[in-house]
Formats: sequence, C-alpha cells, structure tokens
Amino acid sequence: MRAADQPLVLGTDDRSIGQAADLLAAGRLVAFPTETVYGLGADATDALAVARIYEAKGRPRFNPLIAHMASLAQAQAEALFSDKALRLAERFWPGPLTLVLPRAPGGQVSEIARAGLDSVAVRVPGHPHARALIERLGRPLAGPSANRSGHVSPTTPAHVLADLAGRLAAVVDGGPARVGVESTILSCLDDRVRLLRPGGLARGDIERLLGEGLADPEPGSGDAPLAPGLLGSHYAPEARVRLEAERPDTGEAWLGFGADPDGLADGPTRLNLSPEGDLVEAAANLFGMLRRLDAAGVAGIAVAAIPGHGLGEAILDRLRRAAAPRVAGG
Ligand code: TXA
Ligand code: MG
Repeated sequence: MRAADQPLVLGTDDRSIGQAADLLAAGRLVAFPTETVYGLGADATDALAVARIYEAKGRPRFNPLIAHMASLAQAQAEALFSDKALRLAERFWPGPLTLVLPRAPGGQVSEIARAGLDSVAVRVPGHPHARALIERLGRPLAGPSANRSGHVSPTTPAHVLADLAGRLAAVVDGGPARVGVESTILSCLDDRVRLLRPGGLARGDIERLLGEGLADPEPGSGDAPLAPGLLGSHYAPEARVRLEAERPDTGEAWLGFGADPDGLADGPTRLNLSPEGDLVEAAANLFGMLRRLDAAGVAGIAVAAIPGHGLGEAILDRLRRAAAPRVAGG
C-alpha cells in the first residue's frame, strides 16, 4: 500500500486529463468532478480496481456503483434501454440523472461494480471534464461519491482530500460541484419508471416528460438502493453455502482464502479467492468465483474462514447473505 502518499491534484487541461486516464487504466483510483458531487473513480471493467473503491470508502457492504459514461452511445453498449429510458436519457443527459437498466449482453462493467446484480446503473454526467476523462479512458468509470462511508458527499476537491487523502492516486480539480446533491436515480426494469432516490433532477420535470407519475421501488426487489437489505434474495446462489469451513465435505465445492487445507486436490470446483490472503484480491474474485462454483451444479460450497477487517467485512456480509436461509421465491 502507498497509504502515506498524498494524491496528485490535477487540472482539467488535456495533459492532466490524460494523466488521470492513465492512472485509471493502471487500476488506480482517481476522484473526478461531476455536476452533482465528486466521484471516486475506477475503471468499471477492472474488478480489482473496483474492489479498491470499496476498500477506500470503508463500505461495510458491496452496494452497486454507478457506471459513468461519456455518451448515450457508450451507455447503450452496457445497458438495455426501454422506450421510456431512451426518452429520459435523450432529454436529461448529460445531467444529474442515473438510470438503473437491465445489463446488456456483452456489457463490460464488472460484476463487483454491479454487486452481482443483472442490472446496471448508468449516467452521463453534466460536467464536461468528467466526460473528457471517461472518453480518454475509453471505458465506463465506476464511481460512488468520493467520501468515506457514512460521511457526507464532497462537492470540492478539498472535501475529497479531507476524507480520502492517502487512499487515492489523484483528484481532478473541476471546481465546486454546481448541483451539490447526488443524481436522481430511476429504475426502468419493467414498464413502470420507479424513483429509487430523489436528487438533482426534480420529479416534476421527469413526470412532465413521461406524462405519468413515478412509481415507488418494487417492495422486495433488487432496485431499492436506500434499503440494501432488500437485495438479499437476489444474491443467493443455488448451492448451500457453508462458512468458516476447514475443508470441503463430500460433494461440496471449495472456496479458499489463504493457504488451502493439506491434501486438497485441484479441480474445477476448487477455487481460491486469494492464495496470498489479500482481501482486495478476494473481493475482486468473490462474485465471479461464487458464480462459477454455483454453475458447476454442486450441492454445497464450503468457504474458508475470512478475517473481518478491511474489505473482509463486505466480503463476509455478502457470504452471510449467500448462506442465509432462502426467502420464498428468492
Ligand atoms: O450524483 C451521483 O449520483 C454521484 C456522482 C458521483 O455520480 N454518485 C453517487 O453514487 O451518489 P453512490 O454510490 O453514493 O450512490 C449510488 C446509488 C447507491 O445507493 C446504489 O445502491 C444505487 O445507486 N445503485 C447503483 N446500481 C444500482 C442497481 N443496479 N440497482 C439499484 N440501485 C443501484
Ligand atoms: Mg454516496
């Protein structure tokens, strides 16, 4: 870790934007200006880089992140737009509006950025230098607000540094955020448009365009970001998950962490989140490996003990939900 390093403060000239894009392409974290609040950016297609966001924020669980796009065309490569979603995007982008949409087949946003969901939150930010940075990177930019978990969202580079200095490579100084509150989040996963979070775009403007009222989040669905506990039933693998296992029982797959138990034979149902015991690497591998083991059709998955500090807390939160008894229909 380079925790003692002070982040670079970069301007918005071409050279600085290029430097910020290079850092992102190398898997580093760069805070970036948007018109709402500053975001803590990572290459959304790089699972390890995205895991570093959760580590830097100290988030106790894997909330899905917004994937920021340079254009509607780029968003359309990642998400499936209904007619209503397309009208909203064409009218309000670039701007303080995030759309939660079904993920497009072939989309590149990593599973950890989506917290394992089959939907993806996309937005084209109104700040021109946010778009310049994303365009230069050539990939979607995953970014929650650039504050430690539980703190208020930052609207200046100074706020970002006060909260996260030592935890990111650079901040692009695009001036104070104009809107100052987060984007409005709508889900368009069925024929209703649902308001998941009020924000910088007013409900009335949206309802006028659609010619209909916004619906509430569907209870118990995966699209209620203000009640992430509701995501539980969407997270469960088919296989029974057994935590703090010492070794797999007969018929169980193995998901290791650190050194594997003596005498464990290699095989397609023997995976290790991080043989070195690195929690950031483990977080980056978690969703993909769970899915691979589950797809192998095993009855159960035995998971090695994982320490609860740092990203371990979010990893264990995810695993405990996977291990919890199923709710009906989940
Ligand atoms: O203005 C903003 O929205 C700022 C700037 C940086 O873009 N970003 C921001 O991100 O506020 P964050 O991570 O603090 O809030 C994003 C919200 C979370 O509550 C998350 O649960 C929700 O978006 N979200 C993301 N993907 C989702 C999905 N697939 N389904 C439901 N909710 C989702
Ligand atoms: Mg936030």
